[in-house]
Amino acid sequence: MLIDGKGISVKRLAALKEEIATSGCVPCLATVIVGADPASQMYVRMKHKACDDVGVTSVGVELPEDATTEEVVAAVAHLNDDPSVHGILVQLPLPKQIDTEAVIEAVSPAKDVDGFHPENVGALFSGRPRFVPCTPGGIMTLLAEYAIPTAGARAVVVGRSVDVGRPMAALLINADATVTVCHSRTKNLEDEMKAADILVSAIGKARFVTKDMVKPGAVVIDVGINYDDDGKLCGDVDFDAVADVASAITPVPGGVGPMTIATLMENTFAAAKRQIC
Ligand code: GUN
Repeated sequence: MLIDGKGISVKRLAALKEEIATSGCVPCLATVIVGADPASQMYVRMKHKACDDVGVTSVGVELPEDATTEEVVAAVAHLNDDPSVHGILVQLPLPKQIDTEAVIEAVSPAKDVDGFHPENVGALFSGRPRFVPCTPGGIMTLLAEYAIPTAGARAVVVGRSVDVGRPMAALLINADATVTVCHSRTKNLEDEMKAADILVSAIGKARFVTKDMVKPGAVVIDVGINYDDDGKLCGDVDFDAVADVASAITPVPGGVGPMTIATLMENTFAAAKRQIC
């Protein structure tokens, strides 16, 4: 079975648009981008377009490549203080001279639609989530939409990043899965992966996950956005071969990616509701 993230995202965004329209509440998302990285610019454009599509207003703050930590923190503080802004997203990665942690901690937890502030991370890990990071949040929505059981399932997350691997593990624990987190120092990685009923790959290596690493019948979620040697967009998973053994699998593109943006919109509306509606 193909897990159609694009289709689910379209459905959920349509429902959200309706909900926003009838709420009488007009949410506003502010994005902050530092420098001119083309990929980051593209992601931010996509986020603003999603806002336009669902009835969320948006503002974009652009700072130069050589901005200082203090300048970025000041821009964030200004948005924190602006009652017309309900959600704040600082596009990552930031240029290397910037203290990313300081910037993330500067975002008001009430407006932290990325769910990266330590207060929101702590809430998620203590089982009382407030804002959930958009990519793992979107994956949980996909599992729910396809009625994939998590309780008692053996879930293996490959990758321990702060934005995907760690919150993914917390969400799966909260959903009663038995969770293993693997990373670059994991011994017998293949054996760990092969034990998974639900395998989430967030490693960032083109077609790293091959058929022999996947238990027959497993659900495979591919978070990777990679380019192969021919410049072709592909995930972490060797899709054609793994699709033969998996019971369900997300494609790249059209799987997890669209769900990230849909979850950002849902988080932004949730933030606005708590602040104004
Ligand atoms: N860069 C890559 N993914 C993300 C994300 O989910 N949020 C932000 N703010 N930046 C990113």
